[in-house]
Amino acid sequence: MLTLGIETSCDETAAAVLDDETVLSSIVSSQIDIHKKYGGVVPELASREHLKNLIPIIREALAAASVSLTDINLIAVTYTPGLIGALLVGVSAAKAIAYARGIPFIGVHHGEGHILAAHIEYPGIGYPYIALLVSGGHTALYHVRGLGDYRMLGQTRDDAAGEAYDKVAKLMGLEYPGGPVLDRLAQAGNPESIKFPRGHLAGYDFSFSGLKTAVRNHIALFMSKDRGIDPKLRKEDVAAGFQAAVVDTLVGKTMQAAAETGVDKIVVAGGVAANSSLRARMKDEAEKRSITLYLPGMFYCIDNAAMIALAGYLHYRRGETSNLDLNPRASMPL
Ligand code: KG4
Ligand code: ZN
Repeated sequence: MLTLGIETSCDETAAAVLDDETVLSSIVSSQIDIHKKYGGVVPELASREHLKNLIPIIREALAAASVSLTDINLIAVTYTPGLIGALLVGVSAAKAIAYARGIPFIGVHHGEGHILAAHIEYPGIGYPYIALLVSGGHTALYHVRGLGDYRMLGQTRDDAAGEAYDKVAKLMGLEYPGGPVLDRLAQAGNPESIKFPRGHLAGYDFSFSGLKTAVRNHIALFMSKDRGIDPKLRKEDVAAGFQAAVVDTLVGKTMQAAAETGVDKIVVAGGVAANSSLRARMKDEAEKRSITLYLPGMFYCIDNAAMIALAGYLHYRRGETSNLDLNPRASMPL
């Protein structure tokens, strides 16, 4: 059974081909260079880039899998959440192909795709597990009891973790996206030298806006109107201190969720799961508790279409499909 997956929810145009659960090809074309100069994703530019690139990317994915469009049995596409114009490009293409070829079509929640990305490299993972979904748009903890059974334990009340990374990087005059840049910078800094506050919310909710303000206030001490940021500001230490605060909170709540639900498996998913410190701390803490940790490889942490194809295929196998009147939605709970 061959599934073509399509992902256009934000600034990556992606297509992938799966043979059952095996990835035959996964092509990701990032628009980062286009959005970089604006310090964030410009929705209209993103839509236009998807429009220009999607068909060539689909062709590339088919060629890399050595299959043709006539071999495809199912089309899976991200239909929510994301930038509405960007989603519309992928959903329209998916519907058109499915209709023209007379094959089934299924809409996938982007967040579910991220969580199930762990199943690509660990097909035998099994349920239940705790999933920490951390990306530019989400920060949430789920008790995953089966396919499609995601009990949300908590989520961010303000910024997503990736969003906080991007905003803090911007405050420091660093490039978009801020996550990878701050991650690299933090490795050269001392996480103890500036102690930023941790958001202490009861339960499993997160908050990163207070931390962001604390970083802004710290940077303000080194800012002057005419000379910009004083070189005395230790950007490495700010990055390390900020990262330590984010990672402490994410790891702490995830371990607490595993303990309180009695679950001994953890999946970390989404773009921020590519963070070196988060990966290292999760590994340490999981090991201490005899918890099995499933960390997707970097390629499957960031946006890709293989995870969308897999999620679509798994639902299809249970007899689910979407109607061709499915429309993209800017937001929708998982
Ligand atoms: O999952 P993703 O590719 O797109 C969304 O669905 O949002 O995640 C993108 C987010 C961005 O905010 C980016 O800064 C962050 O993931 N990110 C990282 C790292 N790599 C990407 N954050 C921290 N450390 C990283 N190494
Ligand atoms: Zn994503």
